[in-house]
Amino acid sequence: MNTNVDVNDIVQNLYEQIKNSEDKGSLASYIPELENIDSTLFGVHISTIDNSNFGVGNYYDKFSIQSIVKVLSLIMAYDLLGEELWTRVKVEPSGTPFNSLIQLEVENGIPRNPFINAGALVIADVLLNNLKNPKEDFLNFVRNLSDSKDIAYSSKIANSEREVGYRNAALCNLIKSFGNIENEPSDVLDFYYDLCSLEMSCEELSNLFLFLANDGFTLTERKQILTRSQTKRINALMQTCGFYDESGDFAFKVGLPGKSGVGGGIVAVHPKQYAIAVWSPKLNAKGNSYKGMRFLEEFTTKTESSIF
Ligand code: DON
Repeated sequence: MNTNVDVNDIVQNLYEQIKNSEDKGSLASYIPELENIDSTLFGVHISTIDNSNFGVGNYYDKFSIQSIVKVLSLIMAYDLLGEELWTRVKVEPSGTPFNSLIQLEVENGIPRNPFINAGALVIADVLLNNLKNPKEDFLNFVRNLSDSKDIAYSSKIANSEREVGYRNAALCNLIKSFGNIENEPSDVLDFYYDLCSLEMSCEELSNLFLFLANDGFTLTERKQILTRSQTKRINALMQTCGFYDESGDFAFKVGLPGKSGVGGGIVAVHPKQYAIAVWSPKLNAKGNSYKGMRFLEEFTTKTESSIF
């Protein structure tokens, strides 16, 4: 980070500049309930490992974190299965959209990575197999990681996605046909939709993800969530696969590990420095927040704080 700049000033100024600019994105209409959101909402929150916090705009409003949850479900599954997990899901960028079926057929039902929908369905299957009460246990895991105890699923969002989840059903059934899903596809899909419906604010997200900037330790209690090596791996996966077929572009423009969701949220991590969350609901053609991407590109450029 360039120490001659005031990070909070930069966040504030960029926020205003980007808020007032044209939004070329569009809402994620394939999940009907996600279209009911006010598309002008915009929030940013940064949490640093020096324990400073700063938010602008709608940073305290909760939104549907969607695929951002895949980082958290992966961490829980990694904790449960250890290195064996990588026999079920690979760690290569897919270069395909998040809901693509193409590679699965030729690659025998082993998803390219845990962040495309196919990979996240396998992770959901692992959690179903290894947790007593998957829905409650996962929620408790997230609440314990976070300082906030009122994080919850949205049944409205989960049901809305469930009603139109034809592609995810196709993915899950195809993986099942190769033997890489152990439970009933309908149970895996139900759990997956619940996971994606989790609602959090930018403030909660940046505070929660800060442990990935802090060598796997939570900031306040110094509780170890992941080893250093595991932390490196999760960050590496976010860097290479966090934005699907826009992961290269995100690395090129922003230069940080991160993860997006079709609710319009993006969280990014600078190892040893900070975690930052941005939320603006309209998405670009690759399904990533249009203004969120622009904000982060300008932010790492102005603060000179990317990892490259
Ligand atoms: O399965 C889906 O399509 C959604 N629940 C999650 C997709 C998503 O967030 C992709 N991220 N940008």
